Amino acid sequence: MLSGAALRGLGPGTAPGTGLRSVLDAGPARLVTSGRIAIALALREMGVGPGDTVLVPAYHSPSMVPPVLHLGAKPVFYRLRPDTSVDLDDIRARLGPDVKVLMVTHYFGFLQNLSTLRAFCDKHALLLLEDCAHSFFGEHGGRPVGAWGDYAAASSMKFYPVYEGGALVSGKHGLGSVGLRAAGAAFEAKSALATLEKSFAYGRLPLLRALLAPPLRLKDAAWSRLKARRRAAGDTTAGAPAPALAPASSDSGFELDPAWLDKRSSWLSRLLVRRLPAAPIVAERRRRYLKLEQALRGLPRARPLFAALPDTVCPWMFPMLAEDPEALFGEVVAAGIPVTRFARPLWPGVDDSVCATSSMLSRQVLAFPCHQALREDELDWMIDTLRTILES
Ligand SMILES: Cc1ncc(COP(=O)(O)O)c(C=O)c1O
Repeated sequence: MLSGAALRGLGPGTAPGTGLRSVLDAGPARLVTSGRIAIALALREMGVGPGDTVLVPAYHSPSMVPPVLHLGAKPVFYRLRPDTSVDLDDIRARLGPDVKVLMVTHYFGFLQNLSTLRAFCDKHALLLLEDCAHSFFGEHGGRPVGAWGDYAAASSMKFYPVYEGGALVSGKHGLGSVGLRAAGAAFEAKSALATLEKSFAYGRLPLLRALLAPPLRLKDAAWSRLKARRRAAGDTTAGAPAPALAPASSDSGFELDPAWLDKRSSWLSRLLVRRLPAAPIVAERRRRYLKLEQALRGLPRARPLFAALPDTVCPWMFPMLAEDPEALFGEVVAAGIPVTRFARPLWPGVDDSVCATSSMLSRQVLAFPCHQALREDELDWMIDTLRTILES
């Protein structure tokens, strides 16, 4: 992971071969601990506060809403079209004096029509926030993803082998007023060890795993003791829980912990995100996506959500639209295939009456990994198993 070749003087986001740039090429960046922290900071920089409305897509991760609420603003959910593009007619109908920000998501790495959205926002005096959680890499109209928005927020964990990480970017306004500080030695240690453990969990680095097994066991024991002590301390002082050692965003939670708003991402995470070359990540993800698409297109029970993979896209996952999602999901999980149901659940109250397309997508999309670390034999097994299930 940290080979000399990987770290040799390659700048952020340069992708020789594909030439696809990253969100870090869109302007000055601050590396924080998660995408939702980056969203909250972007909204804060935009001056969002009580009385303001933020337009949020009805097809969303529940983690996109707490940043809006944290600033005291009101989230209003807008409709999408079945290809996940923003429904501008619906947005037009929701405009009003309180509406300050349009947040758009590039689902699964497939970019929205950013030039149109930029022109729309300029015309209606809206600020544009690009949610690049699924699109660390990508381009539209000759600009890197994130460069069309007033601000962009990315989630490094979905593309890099890191335990925590997000990026706040603004080529339009700069980030001079965003100050961050180190989160402390315990967090640095937790982040470094969790990054290694993540690799081990997926069966990577077996030799290193064997070597590090005893110290990691010691670490687990020490960690449990430390957590117990902190819990006890929290319980006996003002009744408040002790602050977390690492953000909940790294453990599949949806909430926003304001304690991490002013914290920099860990040293290891920043190093990997800034220095790992982008080209192999982009190329390997695209290759896996295309292999999945080629093998599974045309089979019964599910079809790829997107008609094609444009040259300007680096996919987060390979999403399929299932005809019988509950049954298919059950079979896929039983077979041991890793599968993600993005936007499930939706934020309370977001149902068919808000956007029937978004509820349909939330229900019917099953997304499969095309991560660059997926080994060829794993990918082949996943494809064979999925084929068998879909043809059954
Ligand atoms: C579309 C989208 N936006 C934002 C986020 C928040 O990112 P993070 O988990 O890094 O806070 C997520 C997380 O899954 C997401 O899927």
